Amino acid sequence: MRRREFLAAGAALALLPRARAARASAPRLVRAAPARAAIAGSGYPDTEVWAYDGTVPGPELRYRQGERLSILVENRLPQETTVHWHGIRLPNPMDGVPHLTQPPIAIGGRFLYEFDLPDAGTFWYHPHLASPEQVGRGLYGALVVEERDPPEADRDLVWMLGDWRLDREARIREDFGNFFDASHAGRIGNTVTVNGRVTEAFEVRAGERLRLRLVNAATARIFALRFEAHEPWVIALDGHPLEPFRPEGGRIVLGPGMRADLLLDCTGEPGSSYRVVDDFYPREAYRLLDLHYAKGGARGRARGAPKALSPNPVPEPDPARAERHVVRFGGGARGGLTRELAMRGIAWTVNGRAVSGHAHEPLLSLPLGSSQVLELVNDTVWHHPIHLHGHVFRVLSRDGRPNPRREWADTVLLFARSRAEIAFVAENPGLWMFHCHVLEHQESGLAAVFRVA
Ligand code: C2O
Ligand code: CU
Ligand code: CU
Repeated sequence: MRRREFLAAGAALALLPRARAARASAPRLVRAAPARAAIAGSGYPDTEVWAYDGTVPGPELRYRQGERLSILVENRLPQETTVHWHGIRLPNPMDGVPHLTQPPIAIGGRFLYEFDLPDAGTFWYHPHLASPEQVGRGLYGALVVEERDPPEADRDLVWMLGDWRLDREARIREDFGNFFDASHAGRIGNTVTVNGRVTEAFEVRAGERLRLRLVNAATARIFALRFEAHEPWVIALDGHPLEPFRPEGGRIVLGPGMRADLLLDCTGEPGSSYRVVDDFYPREAYRLLDLHYAKGGARGRARGAPKALSPNPVPEPDPARAERHVVRFGGGARGGLTRELAMRGIAWTVNGRAVSGHAHEPLLSLPLGSSQVLELVNDTVWHHPIHLHGHVFRVLSRDGRPNPRREWADTVLLFARSRAEIAFVAENPGLWMFHCHVLEHQESGLAAVFRVA
């Protein structure tokens, strides 16, 4: 056992099903199908969801860095699907984008995903077809790639943040794909879950150090978590290590698709509770859950600052010799959205192009092996977490100011009317999606394709 784990008596979070891959193994079957799940918490009926292997989130897939993932996906949904492995630098045919990298998995069909895992970190998987509806109904799961040399922690846990639009009987409202959500902030729900369930209390012990892997699996909601009376360290973003830091104002901001790995020292008083608050939308701040300390023992003490994790083998871009491109995002309500676009169901433009639906002409062709600097300009009054497939990039600057952390990321959150520069090596040949991870934005035009060749 490489991990010390315990299940606190009465813990409100069920331990997720866990799978460790065998080395050069037979594929593991994962089935996407309708299921029922206790989303809304006590006092509410179960919710009809779509799920991987019957649970929300789906099985927590765990591998070690360098291992090979081999998953046979079976589609038992009432519609076609695919699976995308968010953040993984994998071969293009395994990327799960329908019509671009693979045909959709037909109803009743199967598809074998098989690829190596070059980077350690916190990643996730989700459909890439009709994704506002398929992710919105519960199809998502964590993909954890463990370091060869993990940091000291008493427990290593995933918190997948989900957001649901439920009615009073805890049924999913079926208003997917409406143009209002698409042209505004996306389909923000009314029920937030941690690991697929409205959670009152998360049980901890005084003095333990938790590794918390936060994943924002919501289709549209942005989170800003604060841990009352606690000071977590951020040790990785989007799976990639950085110099551990304490976030500004104690807030950990995650747009859809983004991840943060925290080390949290449980410094509270035994028998007490401390709130974890999400106040991204300040007028709608709410308590996500309580950290609840078991009774007995002494107050926990903070441990020393953690060491940085070993970096992943990502090629370093050379901004001085890079090709430069500008990518401008336009449209949206209260901005560039015209009636002509709206009539076609398009809410957003990328470099002035208005496209909807499936694979299209590449917006950019990037020479294989070249360094790239992209200036991303958000000309809209909405926030957009912009995600690149098959690569990770450094965030060089925001709003013209150099970013001292220069973190690696696969998704960068562009606030309303802001800009950022990112840099990467176009190292991975193929056709790669570049899109907003507010999935309703992606479906209504905030998407492009890069060709790397
Ligand atoms: Cu997580 Cu193209 O998406
Ligand atoms: Cu992705
Ligand atoms: Cu967006």
